[in-house]
Amino acid sequence: MNEKEPPTSNAPLKKQEESQLRDQARLFGNVQFIYELILAQLELRSLGAVFEMTDGFSSFRLLDVEDEERLKRQLAYFQTVRGENTDYVCISQKNRTRSVNQYLTHWIYPYKGKFHPQLVRAALNIIGLRPGDTVLDPFVGSGTTALEAQLLGVNCVGFDASPLCVLQSRVKTASHEVVDKIRERCVELAGVKQEGMTLHEAALRNALSSTADQRVGNFFTLAELVALSDNVRRKRDITAAFAAKTKLMVQSVTDYDQIRKELRLSLGRAAIERGDARALPVRNNSIDGIVTSPPYAIALDYIKNDAHALQALGLDTSEIREQFIGLRGRMKDRVCLYDEDMKRSLEEMMRVLKPNRYALIVIGNAVFGGTPLRSVELITEHANDIGLQLTKSVDKTIFGLYNVMQKEKVLIFKKDEEST
Ligand SMILES: C[S@@+](CC[C@H](N)C(=O)[O-])C[C@H]1O[C@@H](n2cnc3c(N)ncnc32)[C@H](O)[C@@H]1O
Repeated sequence: MNEKEPPTSNAPLKKQEESQLRDQARLFGNVQFIYELILAQLELRSLGAVFEMTDGFSSFRLLDVEDEERLKRQLAYFQTVRGENTDYVCISQKNRTRSVNQYLTHWIYPYKGKFHPQLVRAALNIIGLRPGDTVLDPFVGSGTTALEAQLLGVNCVGFDASPLCVLQSRVKTASHEVVDKIRERCVELAGVKQEGMTLHEAALRNALSSTADQRVGNFFTLAELVALSDNVRRKRDITAAFAAKTKLMVQSVTDYDQIRKELRLSLGRAAIERGDARALPVRNNSIDGIVTSPPYAIALDYIKNDAHALQALGLDTSEIREQFIGLRGRMKDRVCLYDEDMKRSLEEMMRVLKPNRYALIVIGNAVFGGTPLRSVELITEHANDIGLQLTKSVDKTIFGLYNVMQKEKVLIFKKDEEST
């Protein structure tokens, strides 16, 4: 006769686990740095939760929650709230590349010095932005702030000196609106003779792809530029690269449209323009929050890096260089101009921000001529002089730009009430 198995402690343990889950907010497994843990706490607090840390730094016990639904809809660093998945679980897994942080349309153009999307989502929460508010990114780059704001229902006004950045940010945030037209255009383009296409012919195809709807034209222009980049950098056949890239891009836009519907997201509006962070075409005291990271151009020549794409767009790179913070002047002059330009940009942020609102700036001390610059100190001191009070400074580890910069800081400033 078989002896009965001794009773396992599974049942009571499961119950215990379940009851623990019910009062917890659990972090994603990829949250591994101290700065992420700090930001996770800040966003939880900002979204109206009172909590205490539990053992193992992997979850927080929720003691009081203002709006549980809001936590689930908005949190960035948390996988579950009281045992239920947050929206970000679906969002961050949709059309994800091998890199954990590249999902939906984030990855469609290779751009150096991008923000971490998860950090940006948390940043928007931390500075108290809610659906319908407007965030500004005066250095919008590849559009990370614009896309993450859009997903949270926050409107974004973004500027960049580089037309290539404006193009990619627009494509990432507007293509889902015209996904059907993009698919139709793909079929038409497949009918165009593509065998043995030269660069000149490819440029023609580019012109051909522009349609009455600028959003559709932008999508194919960007696909062409990615193909060109593959051709210039990796010697890949441009026609094959265009076909492969277009297919992937269409999929990412389709996925974006799908997730929007599945999660019933009410997307924010994104308005991206070419502009100069030192002279923003924005009204005084009109912005609810700022999330940005200024150029590392002093250590990383963006214009040189993207020269082939900028030229293909018919642009004069020397003219763009003149507007570019960090690329103006030579040697010592360059450092002085960089500092001056950074101060002017900060003054503009201060001017357009509403009183009692926050600007979150991710910045590090770039290395120039072997010496780290003092941008963090400069920004902090100047901010204080003009009425932006530093409320939080968090050290952030960075990867991939070791020769240029090793550490960054997440600085959170609040605009004084009196400074209007
Ligand atoms: C560090 S990148 C921003 C990257 C961005 N956070 C992202 O996730 O892609 C800084 C950006 O500043 C832009 N820039 C340089 N000078 C500028 C200026 N005067 N006004 C506006 N943007 C400028 C560069 O083109 C670059 O895209």
